[in-house]
Amino acid sequence: MKTIIEPFKIKSVEPIRFTTKEEREQILKNAFYNPFLIHADDVLIDLLTDSGTAAMSAKQWAGMMEGDEAYAGSRSYFRFEKTIRALTGFEHIIPTHQGRAAEKILFTITGGKGKYIPNNTHFDTTRANVEFTGAEAVDLPTEEGKKPELIADFKGNINIEGLRALIERVGAENIPLCMITVTNNSGGGQPVSMANIRETKKLLRRYNIPLFLDACRFAENAYFIKKREPGYADKSVREIAREMFSYADGCTMSAKKDALVNMGGFLALTDGALASKARNLLIVTEGFTTYGGLAGRDLEAIAQGLDEVLDEHYLTYRIRSVGYLGERLASARVPMVQPPGGHAIYLDAKRFADHIPPDRYPGQAIVCALYRVGGIRTVEIGSVMFGKYDSTGKLMSPPMELVRLAIPRRVYTQSHIDYVIEVVQEVYARRNELRGFRIVEEAPVLRHFTAKFEMK
Ligand code: F0G
Repeated sequence: MKTIIEPFKIKSVEPIRFTTKEEREQILKNAFYNPFLIHADDVLIDLLTDSGTAAMSAKQWAGMMEGDEAYAGSRSYFRFEKTIRALTGFEHIIPTHQGRAAEKILFTITGGKGKYIPNNTHFDTTRANVEFTGAEAVDLPTEEGKKPELIADFKGNINIEGLRALIERVGAENIPLCMITVTNNSGGGQPVSMANIRETKKLLRRYNIPLFLDACRFAENAYFIKKREPGYADKSVREIAREMFSYADGCTMSAKKDALVNMGGFLALTDGALASKARNLLIVTEGFTTYGGLAGRDLEAIAQGLDEVLDEHYLTYRIRSVGYLGERLASARVPMVQPPGGHAIYLDAKRFADHIPPDRYPGQAIVCALYRVGGIRTVEIGSVMFGKYDSTGKLMSPPMELVRLAIPRRVYTQSHIDYVIEVVQEVYARRNELRGFRIVEEAPVLRHFTAKFEMK
Protein backbone atom coordinates (compact mmCIF):
# COMPACT_ATOMS: atom_id res chain seq x y z
CA MET A 1 0.00 0.00 0.00
CA LYS A 2 1.25 3.48 -0.88
CA THR A 3 1.56 6.49 1.45
CA ILE A 4 -1.79 8.02 2.32
CA ILE A 5 -1.48 11.60 1.13
CA GLU A 6 -3.31 14.81 2.00
CA PRO A 7 -6.30 14.70 -0.40
CA PHE A 8 -5.97 18.38 -1.32
CA LYS A 9 -3.47 20.88 -2.63
CA ILE A 10 -2.79 24.18 -0.93
CA LYS A 11 -4.05 27.38 -2.51
CA SER A 12 -3.53 29.89 0.27
CA VAL A 13 -0.89 29.81 3.01
CA GLU A 14 -0.45 31.51 6.34
CA PRO A 15 3.09 32.04 7.70
CA ILE A 16 3.91 30.80 11.19
CA ARG A 17 6.29 32.64 13.47
CA PHE A 18 9.48 31.16 14.89
CA THR A 19 10.61 32.16 18.39
CA THR A 20 13.67 31.24 20.45
CA LYS A 21 13.58 29.10 23.56
CA GLU A 22 14.47 32.15 25.68
CA GLU A 23 11.59 34.12 24.18
CA ARG A 24 9.23 31.25 24.86
CA GLU A 25 10.34 31.01 28.48
CA GLN A 26 9.40 34.68 28.92
CA ILE A 27 6.12 34.24 27.01
CA LEU A 28 5.19 31.34 29.29
CA LYS A 29 5.94 33.42 32.36
CA ASN A 30 3.88 36.34 31.05
CA ALA A 31 0.99 33.93 30.40
CA PHE A 32 1.17 32.55 33.96
CA TYR A 33 1.96 29.13 32.46
CA ASN A 34 -1.53 28.88 31.00
CA PRO A 35 -1.53 28.11 27.24
CA PHE A 36 -4.93 29.81 26.83
CA LEU A 37 -3.24 33.09 27.79
CA ILE A 38 -0.48 32.85 25.15
CA HIS A 39 -0.91 34.97 21.99
CA ALA A 40 -1.46 32.70 19.00
CA ASP A 41 1.21 34.64 17.09
CA ASP A 42 3.74 33.26 19.56
CA VAL A 43 2.76 29.66 18.77
CA LEU A 44 4.54 27.65 16.08
CA ILE A 45 2.26 24.62 15.89
CA ASP A 46 -1.11 25.07 17.52
CA LEU A 47 -2.60 21.82 18.81
CA LEU A 48 -4.71 23.52 21.46
CA THR A 49 -7.88 22.41 19.75
CA ASP A 50 -9.40 20.98 16.60
CA SER A 51 -12.33 23.34 17.15
CA GLY A 52 -12.87 26.19 14.71
CA THR A 53 -9.36 25.70 13.38
CA ALA A 54 -10.09 23.84 10.14
CA ALA A 55 -8.96 25.09 6.74
CA MET A 56 -12.03 25.67 4.60
CA SER A 57 -12.17 24.46 1.02
CA ALA A 58 -12.43 26.61 -2.10
CA LYS A 59 -16.09 25.54 -2.34
CA GLN A 60 -16.76 26.65 1.23
CA TRP A 61 -15.15 30.04 0.53
CA ALA A 62 -17.25 30.31 -2.61
CA GLY A 63 -20.28 29.52 -0.46
CA MET A 64 -19.33 32.43 1.80
CA MET A 65 -19.87 34.74 -1.19
CA GLU A 66 -23.15 33.02 -2.00
CA GLY A 67 -24.46 33.54 1.53
CA ASP A 68 -27.91 35.11 1.67
CA GLU A 69 -27.94 37.58 4.55
CA ALA A 70 -31.71 38.01 4.77
CA TYR A 71 -32.83 38.32 8.40
CA ALA A 72 -35.67 35.83 7.97
CA GLY A 73 -36.04 32.87 5.65
CA SER A 74 -32.64 33.17 3.99
CA ARG A 75 -31.83 30.82 1.13
CA SER A 76 -28.69 29.79 3.03
CA TYR A 77 -30.78 28.67 5.99
CA PHE A 78 -32.85 26.41 3.74
CA ARG A 79 -29.73 24.82 2.30
CA PHE A 80 -28.41 24.33 5.84
CA GLU A 81 -31.70 22.84 7.02
CA LYS A 82 -32.01 20.51 4.02
CA THR A 83 -28.44 19.21 4.40
CA ILE A 84 -28.82 18.52 8.12
CA ARG A 85 -32.26 16.97 7.75
CA ALA A 86 -30.97 14.62 5.09
CA LEU A 87 -27.98 13.68 7.23
CA THR A 88 -29.69 13.29 10.61
CA GLY A 89 -33.32 12.62 9.80
CA PHE A 90 -34.35 15.15 12.47
CA GLU A 91 -37.24 17.44 11.57
CA HIS A 92 -36.34 20.57 13.51
CA ILE A 93 -33.01 22.21 12.70
CA ILE A 94 -32.05 25.14 14.91
CA PRO A 95 -28.86 27.06 14.11
CA THR A 96 -26.72 28.31 17.00
CA HIS A 97 -23.46 30.21 17.07
CA GLN A 98 -21.57 27.19 18.40
CA GLY A 99 -22.05 23.89 20.21
CA ARG A 100 -22.35 25.24 23.71
CA ALA A 101 -25.18 27.57 22.68
CA ALA A 102 -27.13 24.50 21.56
CA GLU A 103 -26.29 22.85 24.90
CA LYS A 104 -27.37 25.92 26.83
CA ILE A 105 -30.76 25.95 25.11
CA LEU A 106 -31.29 22.19 25.40
CA PHE A 107 -30.47 22.02 29.11
CA THR A 108 -32.30 25.21 29.99
CA ILE A 109 -35.51 23.60 28.74
CA THR A 110 -34.85 20.07 30.05
CA GLY A 111 -32.54 20.43 33.07
CA GLY A 112 -33.05 21.88 36.55
CA LYS A 113 -32.56 20.89 40.16
CA GLY A 114 -33.18 17.23 40.93
CA LYS A 115 -32.54 16.15 37.33
CA TYR A 116 -29.74 13.90 36.11
CA ILE A 117 -28.08 13.90 32.68
CA PRO A 118 -26.08 10.77 31.88
CA ASN A 119 -23.41 10.83 29.16
CA ASN A 120 -20.53 8.52 28.20
CA THR A 121 -18.35 11.50 29.23
CA HIS A 122 -19.52 15.10 29.29
CA PHE A 123 -17.31 17.58 27.53
CA ASP A 124 -16.46 20.48 29.87
CA THR A 125 -18.95 22.96 28.36
CA THR A 126 -21.67 20.30 28.33
CA ARG A 127 -21.07 19.53 31.99
CA ALA A 128 -21.04 23.26 32.80
CA ASN A 129 -24.33 23.84 30.97
CA VAL A 130 -25.98 20.90 32.75
CA GLU A 131 -24.72 21.98 36.16
CA PHE A 132 -25.64 25.61 35.55
CA THR A 133 -29.31 24.58 35.59
CA GLY A 134 -28.86 22.77 38.92
CA ALA A 135 -28.99 19.32 37.31
CA GLU A 136 -26.33 16.69 37.87
CA ALA A 137 -24.05 15.61 35.00
CA VAL A 138 -23.25 11.90 35.35
CA ASP A 139 -20.33 10.40 33.41
CA LEU A 140 -20.74 6.73 32.53
CA PRO A 141 -17.64 5.52 30.69
CA THR A 142 -17.01 1.77 30.46
CA GLU A 143 -14.28 0.05 32.49
CA GLU A 144 -12.31 -0.31 29.23
CA GLY A 145 -12.59 3.41 28.61
CA LYS A 146 -10.92 4.16 31.93
CA LYS A 147 -7.74 2.23 31.11
CA PRO A 148 -5.46 4.47 29.05
CA GLU A 149 -3.03 1.78 27.93
CA LEU A 150 -5.64 -0.78 26.91
CA ILE A 151 -6.11 -1.21 23.16
CA ALA A 152 -9.75 -1.78 22.25
CA ASP A 153 -11.95 -0.74 19.35
CA PHE A 154 -14.71 1.25 21.05
CA LYS A 155 -13.42 2.70 24.27
CA GLY A 156 -15.81 5.64 23.90
CA ASN A 157 -18.87 3.49 24.65
CA ILE A 158 -21.33 4.39 27.36
CA ASN A 159 -21.62 1.94 30.26
CA ILE A 160 -25.09 0.52 29.69
CA GLU A 161 -25.24 -1.35 33.01
CA GLY A 162 -24.24 1.88 34.76
CA LEU A 163 -27.02 3.67 32.90
CA ARG A 164 -29.56 1.05 33.96
CA ALA A 165 -28.41 1.36 37.58
CA LEU A 166 -28.70 5.16 37.43
CA ILE A 167 -32.25 4.97 36.03
CA GLU A 168 -33.23 2.58 38.82
CA ARG A 169 -31.57 4.68 41.50
CA VAL A 170 -32.90 8.15 40.59
CA GLY A 171 -36.03 7.26 38.58
CA ALA A 172 -36.66 7.71 34.87
CA GLU A 173 -38.82 10.77 35.59
CA ASN A 174 -35.68 12.59 36.76
CA ILE A 175 -33.69 11.84 33.63
CA PRO A 176 -34.95 14.22 30.93
CA LEU A 177 -32.52 12.82 28.37
CA CYS A 178 -29.38 10.74 27.97
CA MET A 179 -26.47 11.89 25.86
CA ILE A 180 -23.77 10.04 23.97
CA THR A 181 -20.75 12.03 22.84
CA VAL A 182 -19.29 10.85 19.52
CA THR A 183 -16.39 10.54 19.51
CA ASN A 184 -15.81 10.66 23.26
CA ASN A 185 -13.59 13.74 23.45
CA SER A 186 -12.85 13.85 27.18
CA GLY A 187 -12.40 10.09 27.22
CA GLY A 188 -9.53 10.19 24.71
CA GLY A 189 -11.30 10.87 21.39
CA GLN A 190 -12.38 7.23 21.33
CA PRO A 191 -15.28 6.08 19.16
CA VAL A 192 -18.64 4.67 20.22
CA SER A 193 -19.87 1.55 18.45
CA MET A 194 -23.17 1.32 16.60
CA ALA A 195 -24.09 -1.62 18.84
CA ASN A 196 -23.60 0.56 21.91
CA ILE A 197 -25.78 3.36 20.52
CA ARG A 198 -28.45 0.84 19.50
CA GLU A 199 -28.43 -0.93 22.89
CA THR A 200 -28.56 2.38 24.75
CA LYS A 201 -31.60 3.40 22.73
CA LYS A 202 -33.25 0.04 23.44
CA LEU A 203 -32.84 0.54 27.18
CA LEU A 204 -33.95 4.18 27.12
CA ARG A 205 -37.02 3.39 25.04
CA ARG A 206 -38.37 1.21 27.84
CA TYR A 207 -38.30 4.22 30.15
CA ASN A 208 -39.32 6.80 27.56
CA ILE A 209 -36.06 8.72 27.97
CA PRO A 210 -34.90 10.46 24.78
CA LEU A 211 -31.37 9.92 23.47
CA PHE A 212 -29.32 12.85 22.17
CA LEU A 213 -25.98 12.67 20.42
CA ASP A 214 -23.30 15.24 21.06
CA ALA A 215 -22.40 14.95 17.42
CA CYS A 216 -19.35 17.23 17.02
CA ARG A 217 -17.21 14.46 15.57
CA PHE A 218 -19.92 12.22 14.08
CA ALA A 219 -18.05 11.63 10.80
CA GLU A 220 -14.86 10.50 12.52
CA ASN A 221 -16.96 8.19 14.69
CA ALA A 222 -18.75 6.79 11.64
CA TYR A 223 -15.42 6.12 9.94
CA PHE A 224 -14.19 4.13 12.94
CA ILE A 225 -17.41 2.08 12.83
CA LYS A 226 -16.78 1.35 9.15
CA LYS A 227 -13.22 0.22 9.86
CA ARG A 228 -13.77 -1.65 13.13
CA GLU A 229 -17.33 -2.87 13.59
CA PRO A 230 -18.40 -6.11 11.91
CA GLY A 231 -21.01 -5.58 9.19
CA TYR A 232 -20.11 -2.00 8.31
CA ALA A 233 -17.08 -2.33 6.00
CA ASP A 234 -19.19 -2.11 2.85
CA LYS A 235 -21.48 0.69 3.98
CA SER A 236 -20.72 4.30 3.11
CA VAL A 237 -19.76 6.60 5.97
CA ARG A 238 -22.87 8.62 5.17
CA GLU A 239 -25.09 5.55 5.61
CA ILE A 240 -23.35 4.76 8.87
CA ALA A 241 -23.77 8.32 10.14
CA ARG A 242 -27.42 8.19 9.13
CA GLU A 243 -27.89 4.99 11.14
CA MET A 244 -26.18 6.51 14.19
CA PHE A 245 -28.60 9.44 14.10
CA SER A 246 -31.57 7.12 13.51
CA TYR A 247 -31.33 5.83 17.10
CA ALA A 248 -31.34 9.33 18.53
CA ASP A 249 -34.12 11.84 19.17
CA GLY A 250 -31.90 14.81 18.60
CA CYS A 251 -28.38 16.14 18.69
CA THR A 252 -26.26 19.09 19.61
CA MET A 253 -23.48 19.92 17.21
CA SER A 254 -20.45 22.11 17.26
CA ALA A 255 -19.95 22.72 13.54
CA LYS A 256 -16.43 23.89 14.44
CA LYS A 257 -15.34 20.25 14.31
CA ASP A 258 -16.78 17.92 11.69
CA ALA A 259 -18.55 20.62 9.67
CA LEU A 260 -15.09 21.98 8.80
CA VAL A 261 -15.89 25.60 9.60
CA ASN A 262 -14.51 28.23 11.94
CA MET A 263 -17.78 29.05 13.69
CA GLY A 264 -21.24 27.58 14.03
CA GLY A 265 -23.41 24.88 15.51
CA PHE A 266 -26.94 23.60 15.75
CA LEU A 267 -29.53 21.81 17.82
CA ALA A 268 -31.60 19.29 15.89
CA LEU A 269 -34.51 17.30 17.23
CA THR A 270 -37.67 15.39 16.44
CA ASP A 271 -39.94 16.54 19.27
CA GLY A 272 -41.99 19.49 17.98
CA ALA A 273 -43.00 20.77 21.44
CA LEU A 274 -39.40 20.78 22.64
CA ALA A 275 -38.30 22.42 19.39
CA SER A 276 -40.76 25.22 19.82
CA LYS A 277 -39.50 25.90 23.37
CA ALA A 278 -35.95 25.84 22.02
CA ARG A 279 -36.83 28.31 19.26
CA ASN A 280 -38.35 30.72 21.77
CA LEU A 281 -35.13 30.71 23.76
CA LEU A 282 -33.10 30.96 20.58
CA ILE A 283 -34.79 34.22 19.68
CA VAL A 284 -33.98 35.65 23.12
CA THR A 285 -30.34 34.66 23.22
CA GLU A 286 -29.06 33.80 19.73
CA GLY A 287 -31.21 35.30 17.01
CA PHE A 288 -34.17 34.58 14.76
CA THR A 289 -34.92 30.94 13.99
CA THR A 290 -33.42 30.99 10.50
CA TYR A 291 -30.00 32.28 11.51
CA GLY A 292 -29.54 31.75 15.27
CA GLY A 293 -26.39 33.76 15.82
CA LEU A 294 -24.83 32.98 12.45
CA ALA A 295 -24.46 34.90 9.22
CA GLY A 296 -26.00 33.45 6.06
CA ARG A 297 -22.49 32.82 4.75
CA ASP A 298 -21.70 30.68 7.82
CA LEU A 299 -24.76 28.55 7.13
CA GLU A 300 -23.54 27.99 3.55
CA ALA A 301 -20.07 26.99 4.69
CA ILE A 302 -21.52 24.53 7.23
CA ALA A 303 -23.80 22.92 4.65
CA GLN A 304 -20.87 22.49 2.29
CA GLY A 305 -18.54 21.25 5.06
CA LEU A 306 -21.03 18.60 6.17
CA ASP A 307 -20.84 17.10 2.67
CA GLU A 308 -17.05 17.31 2.41
CA VAL A 309 -16.43 15.70 5.77
CA LEU A 310 -18.13 12.50 4.59
CA ASP A 311 -15.69 12.12 1.69
CA GLU A 312 -13.89 8.89 2.50
CA HIS A 313 -10.57 10.08 1.03
CA TYR A 314 -10.71 12.93 3.51
CA LEU A 315 -11.58 10.66 6.44
CA THR A 316 -8.90 8.12 5.51
CA TYR A 317 -6.29 10.88 5.53
CA ARG A 318 -7.71 12.44 8.69
CA ILE A 319 -7.76 9.31 10.82
CA ARG A 320 -4.46 8.11 9.37
CA SER A 321 -2.62 11.34 10.16
CA VAL A 322 -3.69 11.22 13.82
CA GLY A 323 -2.85 7.49 13.90
CA TYR A 324 0.60 8.21 12.42
CA LEU A 325 1.42 10.62 15.24
CA GLY A 326 0.18 8.09 17.78
CA GLU A 327 2.12 5.17 16.32
CA ARG A 328 5.39 7.11 16.22
CA LEU A 329 5.01 8.23 19.81
CA ALA A 330 4.00 4.75 20.95
CA SER A 331 7.05 3.23 19.30
CA ALA A 332 9.20 5.71 21.25
CA ARG A 333 7.39 4.34 24.35
CA VAL A 334 5.75 7.67 25.15
CA PRO A 335 2.78 6.83 27.42
CA MET A 336 -0.53 7.76 25.84
CA VAL A 337 -4.15 6.78 25.60
CA GLN A 338 -4.37 3.85 23.24
CA PRO A 339 -5.41 3.45 20.52
CA PRO A 340 -5.07 6.92 18.91
CA GLY A 341 -8.34 8.87 18.90
CA GLY A 342 -10.02 10.43 15.89
CA HIS A 343 -9.01 14.05 16.37
CA ALA A 344 -6.22 13.97 18.91
CA ILE A 345 -3.50 12.11 20.74
CA TYR A 346 -3.76 12.15 24.51
CA LEU A 347 -0.51 11.77 26.41
CA ASP A 348 -0.90 9.94 29.72
CA ALA A 349 0.60 12.47 32.11
CA LYS A 350 0.33 10.16 35.13
CA ARG A 351 2.87 7.78 33.60
CA PHE A 352 4.76 10.43 31.59
CA ALA A 353 5.55 12.55 34.67
CA ASP A 354 5.03 10.01 37.44
CA HIS A 355 7.10 12.04 39.91
CA ILE A 356 4.49 14.85 39.91
CA PRO A 357 1.33 14.13 41.95
CA PRO A 358 -2.11 15.12 40.55
CA ASP A 359 -2.39 18.11 42.88
CA ARG A 360 0.79 19.50 41.32
CA TYR A 361 -0.71 19.10 37.82
CA PRO A 362 1.59 16.76 35.85
CA GLY A 363 -0.31 17.50 32.62
CA GLN A 364 0.30 21.23 32.96
CA ALA A 365 4.04 20.53 33.39
CA ILE A 366 4.09 18.65 30.07
CA VAL A 367 2.00 21.32 28.31
CA CYS A 368 4.50 23.99 29.37
CA ALA A 369 7.50 21.88 28.36
CA LEU A 370 6.11 21.21 24.87
CA TYR A 371 5.75 24.95 24.40
CA ARG A 372 9.14 25.77 25.87
CA VAL A 373 11.00 23.16 23.81
CA GLY A 374 9.15 23.40 20.51
CA GLY A 375 6.62 26.25 20.47
CA ILE A 376 3.82 23.67 20.40
CA ARG A 377 0.59 24.57 22.16
CA THR A 378 -1.45 21.75 23.70
CA VAL A 379 -3.97 21.49 26.54
CA GLU A 380 -4.21 19.71 29.87
CA ILE A 381 -7.27 17.50 30.34
CA GLY A 382 -7.01 16.36 33.92
CA SER A 383 -6.91 17.95 37.35
CA VAL A 384 -6.64 21.47 35.95
CA MET A 385 -9.68 21.09 33.71
CA PHE A 386 -11.85 18.88 35.89
CA GLY A 387 -10.41 19.19 39.41
CA LYS A 388 -12.81 20.22 42.19
CA TYR A 389 -12.27 20.79 45.89
CA ASP A 390 -13.91 18.86 48.71
CA SER A 391 -15.29 20.59 51.81
CA THR A 392 -11.81 20.65 53.38
CA GLY A 393 -10.31 22.33 50.31
CA LYS A 394 -8.53 19.18 49.14
CA LEU A 395 -8.33 18.69 45.37
CA MET A 396 -10.49 15.87 43.99
CA SER A 397 -8.90 14.67 40.75
CA PRO A 398 -10.55 13.01 37.75
CA PRO A 399 -9.46 9.42 36.95
CA MET A 400 -7.05 10.43 34.18
CA GLU A 401 -4.39 13.12 33.81
CA LEU A 402 -4.03 13.76 30.08
CA VAL A 403 -2.40 16.19 27.68
CA ARG A 404 -4.26 16.58 24.41
CA LEU A 405 -2.55 17.15 21.09
CA ALA A 406 -5.58 18.03 18.94
CA ILE A 407 -5.01 18.10 15.21
CA PRO A 408 -6.77 20.88 13.27
CA ARG A 409 -8.47 19.62 10.13
CA ARG A 410 -6.64 20.06 6.77
CA VAL A 411 -4.15 22.52 8.34
CA TYR A 412 -0.83 20.78 9.02
CA THR A 413 1.23 18.52 6.75
CA GLN A 414 3.17 15.39 7.58
CA SER A 415 6.40 17.35 8.21
CA HIS A 416 4.64 19.47 10.82
CA ILE A 417 3.59 16.26 12.49
CA ASP A 418 7.14 14.84 12.25
CA TYR A 419 8.39 17.94 14.06
CA VAL A 420 5.77 17.44 16.79
CA ILE A 421 6.97 13.85 17.21
CA GLU A 422 10.57 15.06 17.68
CA VAL A 423 9.57 17.63 20.30
CA VAL A 424 7.44 15.19 22.31
CA GLN A 425 10.28 12.67 22.25
CA GLU A 426 12.73 15.28 23.52
CA VAL A 427 10.44 16.31 26.37
CA TYR A 428 9.88 12.65 27.24
CA ALA A 429 13.60 11.90 27.26
CA ARG A 430 14.10 14.70 29.79
CA ARG A 431 10.90 14.06 31.76
CA ASN A 432 12.74 13.90 35.08
CA GLU A 433 13.38 17.64 34.81
CA LEU A 434 9.64 18.45 34.67
CA ARG A 435 8.34 20.35 37.69
CA GLY A 436 4.82 20.67 39.04
CA PHE A 437 2.61 23.73 39.40
CA ARG A 438 0.40 25.47 41.92
CA ILE A 439 -2.72 27.46 40.96
CA VAL A 440 -2.55 31.03 42.24
CA GLU A 441 -5.77 32.36 40.73
CA GLU A 442 -8.85 30.60 39.35
CA ALA A 443 -12.48 31.12 38.31
CA PRO A 444 -15.33 29.16 39.95
CA VAL A 445 -16.30 27.39 36.67
CA LEU A 446 -14.24 26.28 33.66
CA ARG A 447 -11.16 27.39 35.54
CA HIS A 448 -8.65 26.05 33.00
CA PHE A 449 -9.38 28.90 30.58
CA THR A 450 -8.14 31.64 32.91
CA ALA A 451 -6.28 30.03 35.82
CA LYS A 452 -2.85 31.41 36.67
CA PHE A 453 -0.04 29.06 37.71
CA GLU A 454 3.20 29.26 39.56
CA MET A 455 5.98 26.71 39.18
CA LYS A 456 6.43 24.58 42.28
N1 F0G B 1 -19.08 18.82 22.87
C1 F0G B 1 -17.85 18.33 22.62
C2 F0G B 1 -17.63 16.86 22.62
C3 F0G B 1 -16.81 19.21 22.33
O1 F0G B 1 -15.61 18.71 22.06
C4 F0G B 1 -17.07 20.61 22.32
C5 F0G B 1 -16.00 21.55 22.07
C6 F0G B 1 -18.35 21.06 22.59
C7 F0G B 1 -19.34 20.14 22.86
C8 F0G B 1 -18.71 22.53 22.61
O2 F0G B 1 -18.69 23.07 21.34
O3 F0G B 1 -16.87 24.79 21.41
O4 F0G B 1 -18.64 24.84 19.66
O5 F0G B 1 -19.19 25.44 21.97
N2 F0G B 1 -14.81 21.23 22.11
C9 F0G B 1 -13.66 22.06 21.84
C10 F0G B 1 -12.42 21.28 22.13
C11 F0G B 1 -13.68 23.41 22.45
O6 F0G B 1 -11.33 21.89 22.15
O7 F0G B 1 -12.48 20.07 22.30
P1 F0G B 1 -18.33 24.63 21.08
